Amino acid sequence: MPQPVTALQRQYVERLHQRLCEQGAAPRAILDAFLRLPRHRFIDALIVPESDQPGAAELAVAVGPDAADPDLLDRVYTDSALSIQIRQGRCTSSTSQPSLMAMMMADVGLGPGARVLEIGTASGWNAALMSELCGPEGEVVTVEFDAELAERAREHLESEGLGGRVSVVTGDGVLGWPAGAPYDAVIVTVSCPDLPRAWLEQLADGGRLVMPFGLPDESSPMLLLTRRGDGWEGAFLRWSWFVFVRGGGLRPWPAPLDPAGDPDLAALLRREPVCVKIPVGTADRWSPGAASFGLHLLAAGTPGLATVLLATHEARRQVCYALHEPAAGGLAALCDDELRGYGNPGCLERLRDRFGEWTRLGYPWMEDYRVSVHPPGLPAAPLALRRPETTLDLELPENRQRR
Ligand SMILES: C[S@@+](CC[C@H](N)C(=O)[O-])C[C@H]1O[C@@H](n2cnc3c(N)ncnc32)[C@H](O)[C@@H]1O
Repeated sequence: MPQPVTALQRQYVERLHQRLCEQGAAPRAILDAFLRLPRHRFIDALIVPESDQPGAAELAVAVGPDAADPDLLDRVYTDSALSIQIRQGRCTSSTSQPSLMAMMMADVGLGPGARVLEIGTASGWNAALMSELCGPEGEVVTVEFDAELAERAREHLESEGLGGRVSVVTGDGVLGWPAGAPYDAVIVTVSCPDLPRAWLEQLADGGRLVMPFGLPDESSPMLLLTRRGDGWEGAFLRWSWFVFVRGGGLRPWPAPLDPAGDPDLAALLRREPVCVKIPVGTADRWSPGAASFGLHLLAAGTPGLATVLLATHEARRQVCYALHEPAAGGLAALCDDELRGYGNPGCLERLRDRFGEWTRLGYPWMEDYRVSVHPPGLPAAPLALRRPETTLDLELPENRQRR
């Protein structure tokens, strides 16, 4: 039997539930599962920086079923992703943002009797919530790469009385889990730079897959696909950020150019840039317009397209899309709300041409595209994300409202 929640813990559980209901994150049946499975019971420890200083050491703060400190409960019951594992300075596991988890469950239409495959177990909280929704007649299989996390998740699920209903597999989720296929839903909770064939093939006809599709600028638009026979079609739903997939199963995008390790590039970037404001951006690179122009650059197969680490408005180094033409001595980048050209002005001209092309299409945002998937090697649509495992064709519906 799970340990009962204290009156104080209950206050925080209900506060988060109320916020999710107010946001309308998902149908009530999904959100009510958050009341029955409190988040703190799945988190052994949160990993937090010791201070606000850049480069501060990380501290593990114990949580668990006995958590009684109001500040700690306040942190646990915010609508944010929380880090539970750091390796070599990078977050390698977290418990996802509650509203996003609820949205993903709604995206695939989870309900009683569903058979679900989750990729990325972490604490096991999401698997527990999904099992609650699928009920005893449903089934949840969840795959975790890290053996220690998988073991802890099994313990959490066991103490909630869900050990018999959720199978935690230790392994590389890129392979899916063929023994449990076909699945009505595949929910991927780790950012992947490609779409493994295994997930598509293990989906039942009519089944749905939702995943954060990891782009080279480190954003992960959420992709929802439905299987119809041997075809998979859907759309991007929203921008998201997830920890990156581990293991060698998927080929990553090329690493960003880094002036710190490249004296020629550093010299080019020290030159005064020519800046052109773009009407769709804000001083935030994740503005839907600027980020969608980035997606267009990538899908249009732009020659010389790369990513580069640049100091942007907040003087933080960020990964930005760029046209890099080292032989011509030029680089032009998409930074927040502007296009910046360094060196040879032809580079900035070519980036502006691409912006003009995107404008003529009517400023399509990520959510405007209809996405269909086919194996690589077949002819792709004019706009396509070409990856080794699959090609995603992006097409604009005829009747799309122009912005
Ligand atoms: C954002 S966390 C998952 C959150 C989780 N579903 C929850 O309940 O909130 C991502 C997890 O994916 C795991 N992971 C990374 N690469 C993986 C792979 N190739 N196969 C399976 N799991 C993987 C990480 O170890 C990490 O625990």
